[in-house]
Amino acid sequence: MSPTDHVSAVLAGAAARQDQLLPALHAIQDQLGFVPPDALPAIAAAFNLSRAEVHGVITFYHYFRTTPPARHVVQICRAESCQSMGGDALLAHAEAALGCKLHAHSADGQFALAPVFCLGQCAVSPAIMVNDAVHARVTPGRFDTLIAKAREAA
Ligand code: FES
Repeated sequence: MSPTDHVSAVLAGAAARQDQLLPALHAIQDQLGFVPPDALPAIAAAFNLSRAEVHGVITFYHYFRTTPPARHVVQICRAESCQSMGGDALLAHAEAALGCKLHAHSADGQFALAPVFCLGQCAVSPAIMVNDAVHARVTPGRFDTLIAKAREAA
């Protein structure tokens, strides 16, 4: 089923009431991983809204993505304990290694780099999370190893 078909199926099953816009956007993102920008006209028409109104809703809620998600999410703890234990240097290394800043995707689109505020590993800072796994006492070298393993697992 193509992304357009997924969107069409969600819209066909939704009541044409404006209060059903958010559930429909959630359903689309649940199925596709993001809300395709080219689906905006169909979504707007289904709920009798303007494209600008739908765009406004999508961009208001940070939860919604308009680009496909990265295959791996790397979260770097930015809270106090981790910062005091080399978190800034680790972040700088991560940005250089992935070739992107926080809140962005690596150049190859494989990794999303995001901040997180405390992973409950303060005693063994600095901590990061790669997908669903938490890692403590992360050095730049260990970071590179974790990224390489994630690439291999993909
Ligand atoms: S401050 Fe980083 S894990 Fe708690």
